[in-house]
Amino acid sequence: MTRRSIGIIVNGVTGRMGYRQHLVRSLLAIRESGGVTLADGTTVWPEPVLVGRNETKLREIAERHGLTEWTTDLTAALARDDVQIYFDAQVTQQREKAIRQAIEAGKHIYTEKPLAEDTAAALDLARAADAAGVRTGVVQDKLFLPGLRKLKRLVDGGFFGRILSVRGEFGYWVFEGDWQPAQRPSWNYRAEDGGGIVVDMFPHWHYVLEELFGRVRAVSCVTATHVPERVDEAGQVYPATADDAAYAVFELDGGIIAQINSSWNVRVYRDELVEFQVDGTEGSAVAGLRNCRVQHRAVTPKPVWNPDLPATEDFRAQWAEVPDNEEFDNGFKVQWEAYLRHVVAGEPFRWDFLAGARGVQLAELGLRSAREGGRVEVPELRS
Ligand SMILES: NC(=O)c1ccc[n+]([C@@H]2O[C@H](COP(=O)([O-])OP(=O)(O)OC[C@H]3O[C@@H](n4cnc5c(N)ncnc54)[C@H](O)[C@@H]3O)[C@@H](O)[C@H]2O)c1
Repeated sequence: MTRRSIGIIVNGVTGRMGYRQHLVRSLLAIRESGGVTLADGTTVWPEPVLVGRNETKLREIAERHGLTEWTTDLTAALARDDVQIYFDAQVTQQREKAIRQAIEAGKHIYTEKPLAEDTAAALDLARAADAAGVRTGVVQDKLFLPGLRKLKRLVDGGFFGRILSVRGEFGYWVFEGDWQPAQRPSWNYRAEDGGGIVVDMFPHWHYVLEELFGRVRAVSCVTATHVPERVDEAGQVYPATADDAAYAVFELDGGIIAQINSSWNVRVYRDELVEFQVDGTEGSAVAGLRNCRVQHRAVTPKPVWNPDLPATEDFRAQWAEVPDNEEFDNGFKVQWEAYLRHVVAGEPFRWDFLAGARGVQLAELGLRSAREGGRVEVPELRS
């Protein structure tokens, strides 16, 4: 059996996503499971080259995981012949510049979302990558979560009949940083540093809605900065200039209405940090990150509105759990494996830069809707 090593720059590896989800839970996990096996029996073996700004942190991560390749010099890393892939998990604002450099160096590119800060830049990256003939990918991890995989199975199996609506609830309380440290980096709350919940979450909602239900035709969105002042990692008070909540309605193909609340200022009274309720003529489902419950038309109760009496039914108990029926691996890892197969063996991979640009476009138009106070149509983006 042949083993083929593939050099992968992991830029931003000292960050939350770069370290935990991409290095540890994906690339190193792939090595622990013996590499990615291709149809011809070849094993693809990722060789991470850690890139970042802080030498001490990089050395420490490398030593912790028995890795030897790390540098603070991106240009030097991109010049290496044994590196075929550039991966970016830096703060969003640094991404475009680094990706352009990687395209010029002729590397294949995989990146965290959002691909860029605005649609024009994202589309330009997609075109430049195409022209350079490099293979691109953007993280769309939610598609690979067990709860959403089960939901997709229901859609594909025709469980819902005609889908009418989708209601999504995402969020949790992000501490302000004063009496308890915040659990998310402070740049997320500063617009000038690329923060904001619309830019962060709408790229996710875009691919979830389009892959499961249909193309997004229009968006209406109200945003808020509910908590105007927060405390950063150094204990300094700063003005929160970015939106920290977004209340949006998306109109999809087939007349489906999707309404999604995203907020870092809600306390969770749900089973999971994100949940989608889908209602169709034949049945309904509620899917979270891991679980998915259904209620079919035939077993739907007939409640009668009477606020004078206490509820007589245990509504939650009337739903049935969708079984796993398969083993679910970490979503980031599953997408990495698909991307590596795409790069090495040319297998299809549809979550490319153009797909990423569509997510950026929805965020941009959501913000425009909030600014202008109206409904905004979403034109189809082409390469
Ligand atoms: N797919 C997902 O579910 C998901 C979740 C969270 C974040 N993200 C994305 O991942 C990216 C990183 O987010 P994170 O939460 O890991 O952030 P983080 O602040 O924890 O990490 C950011 C990384 O960027 C590096 N960096 C490079 N230049 C920088 C600069 N000028 N200022 C600050 N840091 C700089 C940092 O050193 C660090 O390694 C973002 O683009 C974000 O949108 C994706």
